[in-house]
This record gives sequence, structure tokens and C-alpha cells, in this order.
Amino acid sequence: MTLTRRRFGALIAASAVLPALPRRARAAPDPIVIEARPGTAQLLPPPYPATPVWSYDGAAPGAGIRMVQGERLERRLLNALPEPTSIHWHGLRLPNGMDGVAGVTQAPVAPGESFDYAFDLPDAGTYWYHAHRSSAGQVGRGLHAPLIVEEPVGARPDVDDEVVAMLGDWRLREDGTQAEDFLAPHDASHGGRFGNVVTTNGRIAPSHSVRRGDRLRLRLINAANARIFEPALQGMTGWIVALDGMPLPAPRPLESLVLAPAQRADVIADVTAEAGEEALLIRLDREPAVQMAFPVREGTATTRPAPASLPPNPVPALGALDGARPLRLVMEGGAMGRMGGALMGGRRAGFREIAGAGYYWAFNGRADWTAEGAMAPLVEVAAGETVHLAIENRSNWPHAMHLHGMHFHEVAGGAPGDLRDTTLVPGGATAEVAFRAAAPGDWMLHCHMLGHAASGMTGFLRVAA
Ligand code: C2O
Ligand code: CU
Repeated sequence: MTLTRRRFGALIAASAVLPALPRRARAAPDPIVIEARPGTAQLLPPPYPATPVWSYDGAAPGAGIRMVQGERLERRLLNALPEPTSIHWHGLRLPNGMDGVAGVTQAPVAPGESFDYAFDLPDAGTYWYHAHRSSAGQVGRGLHAPLIVEEPVGARPDVDDEVVAMLGDWRLREDGTQAEDFLAPHDASHGGRFGNVVTTNGRIAPSHSVRRGDRLRLRLINAANARIFEPALQGMTGWIVALDGMPLPAPRPLESLVLAPAQRADVIADVTAEAGEEALLIRLDREPAVQMAFPVREGTATTRPAPASLPPNPVPALGALDGARPLRLVMEGGAMGRMGGALMGGRRAGFREIAGAGYYWAFNGRADWTAEGAMAPLVEVAAGETVHLAIENRSNWPHAMHLHGMHFHEVAGGAPGDLRDTTLVPGGATAEVAFRAAAPGDWMLHCHMLGHAASGMTGFLRVAA
């Protein structure tokens, strides 16, 4: 057979196409979809009607994701909501472009559109994910879910059962619908928006059956808009083994635990109540109540030694505090806060004027750090730099300050303590934290009381490459 010019050309074309075929066949399957869409949740017990919510895949809170440390998380967010959204992976160390902050680290995902998230999971622990666009309304309507990163097999604590308890707070009407006053000025300028229905995993005081003597791992997540929980146990002996996902160097007997919005605690608890009784997870805050009930059945009650600590996560070492870069964040405003005014729109404005624009708070004298068109970092630091940040709360309200992308040590008496991603700063107090600014990018620093975040308490640090 003679190769004509024409046939030769056809062969070239064919061989140019062929190698692509096997690659296509081997291509990774489409990522698992998380659909953000309107749905309903039976937050109130029947015969109350179900509550219209915004959901991940039909549930509020979402069913969540469970992975193993070292795995890669890949999810496609599909937006079937009537407004743009995004997903923030709270507490995770990930590349800035995957952090999910609409308008800062990515464009908002418009209705009908999607966004692919893909990142490795270097740390084990209890995390969560939630919307990060108009967060007060979107998280409040139900766009939040647990993200559990298990230790590798062999490094997990020896427990009989595990319970994820996502604590929620909803403001509902008699007909089951949500009050949609997510940014009510009175809430935003005071302690934040409290609900009238407190839930665990979307139910009021749900039950989970256990055996006497069981050792449980409880993963507590505060997904509430503003409520500070004080969880406690009855009929169980507990030890805190991790806070905000990060293992404590040694388990700490659970005596008092304060869980501010966005904070988590891993608790190992031994059931000591008798068969036929109920062990309880309760809350001791404003209106003490049962958060979750554990009916106890017969079991072999053995006394066990206190639990061992969890294996530490490979977070970058802090470095010496002596040589750390000192930074200060002054937070002011709110009701009864005596804030005279703040920078807004590039000029000094009085409190009345900024309040008229929906701002009640300021960071370092400016209210609109993330305003469209005028966005600016609070400060720029270098990658690898150790930062010693004093957070001075000049307001009369507590604030749950959250830093994206890296955990910080709470510093007390000059010594770095617990690793956290959210710290509660009481009114009038100054909290110190220290961290190693590892990954380049713009990392949000904001109050996790979402009405506060929406009204002045949002900024970001720029970590230069
Ligand atoms: Cu959990 Cu910027 O938030
Ligand atoms: Cu706040």
C-alpha cells in the first residue's frame, strides 16, 4: 500500500487523537456534589410543621463529611439557592483559594453555578463547613454541617461509640418558619442573635442509646449564630481531649467547658449512670437544659484508666515568642460602647452615621475593611513569620474571634497554650494569641457571632508569599 499524502494526513490526525482516548477513560470521576438548596427540617417536634431551611443536600444541619487524615477532600458545590453562596471549611489548613470566602478568596457561586473544592487534609479533628457569603442569613438558615477528619486507623482512641453533636440555635415562629431578621440592628449591636429553639443535630434534646460502662467520643460543635454554650455531663465522666480540632497535650477532666460560636471540643466520656437511667449532655448557660439524652442499657461496667492524649497534628511550630512580631487589634463599638465613630468610606464618620449604614463595630478604628471596592488587609505579614497578636475588646460584649487557615495558640502569662481557631474575648478584656503565618493569602479574622461579623467585625490578614 502506498501512502498518499492524503492518507498520511489522516493517519497523523488519527494518532493525534488516539492518545487522548485512554486518558479520557482514566480521567477522575466528577467530584461528589454538595447541593446547596432550599429544603425543610423537622426542627420542632411534630405536630409542629417542618421548618423551611437552606440545606446541604436537603438536611439542616447537613449530614456532613467524614474523612481520614491525609486524604484529599474533593467536593463540587452546586448552588441551587436563590442567591450566591460559597463553602468555607472552618478550621482547616488549606490553600487560600480553597478557603471559600465569597468576595475575598473566590467569586461568589451564582445560582445555578458550581465550584470545585479540592484540598488535602493534613490534620485530624472535629471541624465543620458552612456558607461564607451573607453568613448571618445563610448559616442561620441552615447551611452548616460537620466535617470529621479521623485519625488514621491505629491512632484512634479506643472508644465504644462516637457521637457528633452539632449544637444549633434557631429563631422560630409557631408555624415552624424562621424569623428572617438575621441582621436585626438590636441583635447585631448587642450580644448577637439568640434563638428560641436550641437543637443538637437539628432536634431538640435527641436521644442516643448507650451501655453502662461505654466509653464515648463526643464531638461537640457550636454552630449557633451567637449563643455561647457551657456544655456539661451528667451520669458520665468526661475528659476534654481536643479543642477546635487540635489535640490537647494531655486530656483535661471536663469540669467547665465554654463553647463559643464556631468552637469545638472532643470529649471522651465514660458512662457511669445505671442501666435504666439516662446520662445527659446538658448546657449550663442562660437557660440550663438538656442538650442530648443517653438512655443507658445493661453493660459491663469496667473502670478504665483515664484516656490517653490524641496524637498531635503536624502544625508548624510556633517559633520563639520573644522574636515574634507584635500586633494589636482593637475592637470597639456595640451598644453602650461609647464608640465615637470610625473610618467608613475613607473618612471619619460618627457612630450615628456608621450605624445608619449598618455598622456597629470597628476594628482598629475602621468599620468597613471588607467593603466592596475598598477592601484592605488589617495588616500584612510575611509567610513564616511568628505573630503575637493582642486582641483588645473595648466593647461591653464578648466576641468569638476566628482566624482562617491557621490555628493560633492562646497566650496566657507569656506562655503559648491551647491551639485554637476561635477564641472568646470577654467584654473589656484583652486576649493574646500567637501563630506562625504559614500559607500565603488573605485570611479572614472576624467575630463568629455572625451579626457582629456583618456589622464591622470582619477583616483579614494578608500573608505575603
Ligand atoms: Cu466559620 Cu469565617 O468562619
Ligand atoms: Cu462579636
